[in-house]
Amino acid sequence: MAEKIILTGDRPTGRLHIGHYVGSLRCRVDLQNSGEFKDIFVMIADAQALTDNAENPEKVRQNIVEVALDYLACGLDPEKTHILIQSQIPELTELTFYYMNLVTVSRVQRNPTVKAEIQMRNFEASIPVGFFTYPISQASDITAFKATTVPVGEDQEPMIEQTREIVRKFNSVYGETLVEPEIMLSDDKSCLRLPGTDGQAKMSKSIGNCIYLADEEDAIKKSVMSMFTDPDHLRVEDPGKVEGNTVFQYLDAFSNDDFFTEYCPDYKNLDEMKDHYRRGGLGDVKVKKFLNNVLQETLRPIRERRHEFERDIPYVYEVLKKGTEFSREVAARTLHEVKEAMKINYFDDAALIHEQAERYKNA
Ligand code: TRP
Repeated sequence: MAEKIILTGDRPTGRLHIGHYVGSLRCRVDLQNSGEFKDIFVMIADAQALTDNAENPEKVRQNIVEVALDYLACGLDPEKTHILIQSQIPELTELTFYYMNLVTVSRVQRNPTVKAEIQMRNFEASIPVGFFTYPISQASDITAFKATTVPVGEDQEPMIEQTREIVRKFNSVYGETLVEPEIMLSDDKSCLRLPGTDGQAKMSKSIGNCIYLADEEDAIKKSVMSMFTDPDHLRVEDPGKVEGNTVFQYLDAFSNDDFFTEYCPDYKNLDEMKDHYRRGGLGDVKVKKFLNNVLQETLRPIRERRHEFERDIPYVYEVLKKGTEFSREVAARTLHEVKEAMKINYFDDAALIHEQAERYKNA
């Protein structure tokens, strides 16, 4: 079987939060350490971030190092994972320009994730062309590295589908060149999407309902103690609901039986705690204190590692530079093959020159 290669990435528009940790970072570190992949590329997608932040280049620029620090803090290891900056690989832009010819406007308009994002940004009447076409640019990100495997959240499914269509179209028009990638959705229930601390579906910086990987102990505690629970659970004796209860959703993602032994020995595991909450007689404060202990213990080593890397920012840039240089060579090889397949490699094409020379000789 062919060697497996991973590519995935994030837009650098803010620090990463524990939703990113649960939804992807934790799984990426496991994949990195599994030894199953020939290469792993993790991209800081600054060019994509600029497609809807054209007027905010400083925001994107400042957040590149924040995202890199969060990656390193979580355990991405530059010896095993190539961390790269998208905009520094011009081959990606070049691929995008050629792929654009293989996709129709109506096809891009049908992309449900793009549709939702346009609505969220009130772009309806004034969508930047670059934003509109970012799924095609994402296809370049993926195919440039011949990625077989793209671990992402389900909101990215339309991008992977678009990529697969471009690959099939390219290969059928120009000959087998590109690799059709597969999405890797986590079926581990601990890798699910975390709601915001206020119970809203998504963590979002603008709403202020996130816990960041860089948050200090007191900020985490404050977020947990003011977290949304079951609004009908008014008195301790009342029966409570666990479904849709943010505190329990976070415990689903972070707790394990060892945490109970250490911080809440009244229960053997989360199921026992949930049963008590449902029956009534278990107060929110006790559950929140337990969650606080779980989160503090999980996030402390990440924060401490982050602080270590924060003290050596030039090293972080060195990591990014090395990762980008390696990645650029890979992307350049693919672009070379693409141009060869499309026959736009005139100066390397001795047969073309010879054939035309012959034609004129005999004319
Ligand atoms: N669109 C992804 C996001 O918003 C980021 C991204 C850019 C990406 N290029 C990628 C993800 C390639 C996977 C593969 O999170």
